[in-house]
Amino acid sequence: MIELVDVKKDYGKGDYCTHALQGITLKIEKGEYVAIVGTSGSGKSTLLHIMGGMDQLTSGVYRYNDEVVSDYSLAKLQDFRKRNISFVFQNFALMNKYTVYENVEMPLLARKEKGRKKIVMDCLERVGIENLKNKLPTQLSGGQQQRCAIARALAADTPIILADEPTGALDNKTSTEIMSCFSEIHKAGHTVIIITHDMSVASKCQRIVRIEDGKII
Ligand SMILES: Nc1ncnc2c1ncn2[C@@H]1O[C@H](COP(=O)(O)OP(=O)(O)OP(=O)(O)O)[C@@H](O)[C@H]1O
Ligand SMILES: [Mg+2]
Repeated sequence: MIELVDVKKDYGKGDYCTHALQGITLKIEKGEYVAIVGTSGSGKSTLLHIMGGMDQLTSGVYRYNDEVVSDYSLAKLQDFRKRNISFVFQNFALMNKYTVYENVEMPLLARKEKGRKKIVMDCLERVGIENLKNKLPTQLSGGQQQRCAIARALAADTPIILADEPTGALDNKTSTEIMSCFSEIHKAGHTVIIITHDMSVASKCQRIVRIEDGKII
């Protein structure tokens, strides 16, 4: 599904250049459940941004099914991202002025989807927060906010879910619960890729990819 060939990503130029990715070759099959681990600054988020179509590569090839994503302009990348990828972040990135229900409904509104209520409630039930639908994110615990973010990713119904340190702000028990949510999503057929530096989180995934200094080791 995802194929990266000798992918490099530099930030800045000349003396200020950082070689964040230094030749990443990686294949991820449809339906895989993958953890990407590495120390701080090793390039994990950069790799996730590249796979998620949030940024262009400096060199190399990114193939997604039959598409050569690395040839895309920023506008085409945006379209690719909408069609294929949902993100879950460490800080949840919810809209605090909107209720849990409205946050999850957002990707459906963007697609002008019909029958939204049933889909939203189904997504909330899958992560176990249907009883919190009328609360604002600020009224929820960290674990509940992350469940809401995962429900929103489910509502977007993209083949791939990318998560950058989704348990980074949570205690151990809550992390385990959130990882069970991801396992369920994986079992339902999504390709799930999780960045973490927590080996107990990574060990829940099927495969661990380790990155150091912008290279897979
Ligand atoms: N927008 C940017 N501009 C310049 N340098 C950047 C930028 N983003 C990341 N970098 C640099 O690229 C390298 C890889 O950063 P990245 O954020 O991918 O690391 P990471 O593995 O996600 O780290 P962490 O675990 O701390 O989140 C680092 O040296 C970082 O300073
Ligand atoms: Mg990071």
